[in-house]
Amino acid sequence: MTDQNVRADAGAAGTFDIGGDLRVNRLAFGAMRITGSGIWGEPEDPEEAKRVLRRAVELNVNLIDTADSYGPDVSELLIGETLYPYPENLVIATKGGLLRDGPGQWRPDGRPEHLREACEGSLKRLKVDRIDLYQLHRIDPEVPAEESLGVLAELRDEGKIRHVGLSEVSVEEIRQARETVPIASVQNRFNLNDQSSEDVLDFCEREGIGFIPWFPLATGDLARPGGSLDEISARHDAAPGQIALAWLLWRSPVMLPIPGTSSVAHLEENIAAASLVLDDEELATLTI
Ligand SMILES: NC(=O)c1ccc[n+]([C@@H]2O[C@H](COP(=O)([O-])OP(=O)(O)OC[C@H]3O[C@@H](n4cnc5c(N)ncnc54)[C@H](OP(=O)(O)O)[C@@H]3O)[C@@H](O)[C@H]2O)c1
Repeated sequence: MTDQNVRADAGAAGTFDIGGDLRVNRLAFGAMRITGSGIWGEPEDPEEAKRVLRRAVELNVNLIDTADSYGPDVSELLIGETLYPYPENLVIATKGGLLRDGPGQWRPDGRPEHLREACEGSLKRLKVDRIDLYQLHRIDPEVPAEESLGVLAELRDEGKIRHVGLSEVSVEEIRQARETVPIASVQNRFNLNDQSSEDVLDFCEREGIGFIPWFPLATGDLARPGGSLDEISARHDAAPGQIALAWLLWRSPVMLPIPGTSSVAHLEENIAAASLVLDDEELATLTI
């Protein structure tokens, strides 16, 4: 572990107010990897998974992203078991709307009755009365989006959800969704190698919507030595993945990266990227 990793502090990334009132440090944690292979079942090392969660909080991470479908249930249960009672400022964002049939298999279900049941399940597993940020994991092509979002608006009115977010959506879908319910965040795939959601990011920035890039390390590809980030990372005595995360944080003030890991050492490395500042020349090289 480098000195930099020991000093890791998610607060160095600055803050963003989700929905205008939920302040989080911009470098966060994605809790999908604390499950088994294929995001199915128990993690290989449950004790390390719990250590990762506790260490994240120690490093000032106060936004944790999860979903009922991670395991399924496993990620939410581990969070509840390990971190409850929660620190006052910890925001847990979960998602509903995807079903699992086996390892690596995912299927949308955006029927209002399913989403209501899914939300009730998440409330129990996370041991909370209200979910800070509830994200529709996917718009179900078989269900009109306004029906799925309608039930999320009801759950919000009932006090079971504080803010509503979307995942894997276009600008047009965000615009339409906002006719049914206010949208506080959007979670789309985005990283140095895949900026196809740039128009969505720009829209979120203009509208003050949090943009949560999933796959920020391209499943570890960007964290591996031997790639295009080696030269810049050597200059900073940093790991390549830290450069990828520092670039994301620089790219937009509404960017809330959620690098996922099952290891404390990787977590410390990732969170240390919050204090990494790239110079103009480096940013120009990366942005090409
Ligand atoms: N909305 C959606 O549809 C959606 C889809 C996918 C994911 N997500 C969310 O986004 C989060 C992040 O996505 P992701 O986990 O797929 O991708 P990611 O964060 O880009 O990459 C995670 C992978 O990189 C490895 N890794 C992490 N830190 C590392 C480091 N410092 N050095 C080397 N390898 C490292 C991890 O392995 P180790 O465990 O060995 O560290 C893991 O295999 C998830 O946890 C989840 O919350 C959302």
